[in-house]
Amino acid sequence: MPTHSNKDIIEEIRLHSDIVETIERYVPLKKAGGRYKACCPFHKEKTPSFHVDPTKQFFHCFGCGAGGDVFNFVMRYESVEFPEAARILAERAGIRFESSHEERPRDGIDKSSLYQVHEDLAQFYADALQKDPAAETARAYLKERDLESAQSDFQLGFAPPHPHAVSEWAKSRKHSAALLEKAGVLLPNDRGGAPYDRFKGRLMFPIRDEQGRVVGFSGRILDQSSPAKYVNSPETPLFKKSRVLYGLDRARQEMTNERRAVICEGQIDVIRCHLAGIRTAVAPQGTALTEAHALLLRRYADEIVLVFDSDTAGQNAALRGAEALLQAGLTVRVVSLPPGDDPDTIVRAQGAEVLTGMIDAALSLAAFHVGILRARGELDTQAGQLRSARAVLETISHAPSAIQREQYIREAAEQLNTSEDALRQDMQRVLRPGRARDADESVPTPAPAYPSHEVGLIELIIAHPEVLDMVSQYVPPEAITDPDCRRIIQTIMAQPEPDQNNLLSALAEADEGCRRLVSRLQMTARLVQGEEVSCTRAAQDIILALRIKLLDRKIKECVLSMKTATGAEQRELINESAQLTVLKKRLQQGWATAQPILELDH
Ligand code: GTP
Ligand code: MN
Repeated sequence: MPTHSNKDIIEEIRLHSDIVETIERYVPLKKAGGRYKACCPFHKEKTPSFHVDPTKQFFHCFGCGAGGDVFNFVMRYESVEFPEAARILAERAGIRFESSHEERPRDGIDKSSLYQVHEDLAQFYADALQKDPAAETARAYLKERDLESAQSDFQLGFAPPHPHAVSEWAKSRKHSAALLEKAGVLLPNDRGGAPYDRFKGRLMFPIRDEQGRVVGFSGRILDQSSPAKYVNSPETPLFKKSRVLYGLDRARQEMTNERRAVICEGQIDVIRCHLAGIRTAVAPQGTALTEAHALLLRRYADEIVLVFDSDTAGQNAALRGAEALLQAGLTVRVVSLPPGDDPDTIVRAQGAEVLTGMIDAALSLAAFHVGILRARGELDTQAGQLRSARAVLETISHAPSAIQREQYIREAAEQLNTSEDALRQDMQRVLRPGRARDADESVPTPAPAYPSHEVGLIELIIAHPEVLDMVSQYVPPEAITDPDCRRIIQTIMAQPEPDQNNLLSALAEADEGCRRLVSRLQMTARLVQGEEVSCTRAAQDIILALRIKLLDRKIKECVLSMKTATGAEQRELINESAQLTVLKKRLQQGWATAQPILELDH
């Protein structure tokens, strides 16, 4: 990879990367005299102040001050460092260079071989879909779902059901098992045998980054052989779920034209949208929308239309996602789908025009939000109205621009049937950090109170599945008192791989409270900042707290029974409560002391 030091190569790349042509790949330019103009991709504006000078080969924005040469543009636009920008431009210009400067990771597997193996695998799966006799179910499925026409465009594939299919293919292609393990498609065999395939008998969707490189896979179940509808590649050096948007490589050109993006819930919906001519559709990879997604989209679009399921989980995901998008300065609208429908079912049952019409008629975020609250009966009481106003303002407060907030306040006032002034005043309170609790904030919230450590544990394992082993080692079922929390934790533990989306479907039969709690926690669960150490530390703290509470309950039980017990039985109880108290003291001394006595199989 080139660095600043290989001067000749850099100049060679510059020579072959005309700044107008390069920028035009990303942003439509208009000729104005000897220069070119556009709306600046680096800040939000309605009149173009972004100039490109072909003679000087420079760009400059008079609005935000961004400027520089072709490398600077690519660095900024693609959010990459200099070597990567140079690599992108070199590749486009067909310039080869020595890769001796590339840093090789310790395991000797560099990113370019990872990219290569993903490309090869996508082709392997695609070939299997066409040729493997075992792929008959997959071919029939595509036919039945009317997706055959997407097969080649989206490079759909099939993972053979045989657990060593990838290993055998890899041998013939001279890809090492270590490389395939790093790509996440081979799983190491705990019992020392040969590694086996992660994806078996599934319909395969290659996931591409915005530059169109395959970075991971998602496999959809075709039969009932496993409870997981989708299995995804794990996080790898290439595959970051919080960042990847399915379909972005195909959608970004059209997004730039329309300055609008449509976000739906999954791969099949994205494909259906593209087939239906809605070519700005993308979807997150089975995760909530993140700030990284928002920043990525902001390069191409000003307005985002969310097309999510109309169930509670979908509504909450839309609201939560909206906050991340607002934060990035994007405008958000939401399509209210009929219950039980998704983009796929709408297009198939009613035609592309109906879905296009729904997208064009998407509600403003405020209207959508108030609509949900109204449907939940929140506007029927005065207390509910206050809560609703606050909830809407809380969402709006994520928009960094006052102009944007004003617009929402206008819409919200209309929807809530209240005055803009009243909302504006309340807004001041919402925006003020550390605001005082005032009368209307003490309105009771409808959500039941769950034990905080139990909820904390769920949040932690949702955000950091890597602590699951600790939980199964140190948290006995009776340490979790709340039945909803217990059910959720057991469901997470029973999953073959940590998988947030599957979690809600795994809880499909659980009661409403349980699912509501999960969807709330999935949205609030935050990564513990910093190193892995700190999520282990967080887990230790919660485990200790839960085990101490468990001991407290046992001690209390002893004391209660003592009251009615006599003789030997009473002595035993006294003895037991003394032992429990000693144990508790040791737990209170911290993890190092506590750990040996905490292990469950003691
Ligand atoms: P049907 O319409 O029921 O055939 O399903 P679908 O294939 O359209 O998927 P669905 O609407 O149920 O899910 C939408 C998206 O959520 C999928 O594309 C996945 O990204 C994600 N998802 C659904 N189920 C799972 C799962 O079990 N695990 C993971 N990781 N993601 C899932
Ligand atoms: Mn679907």
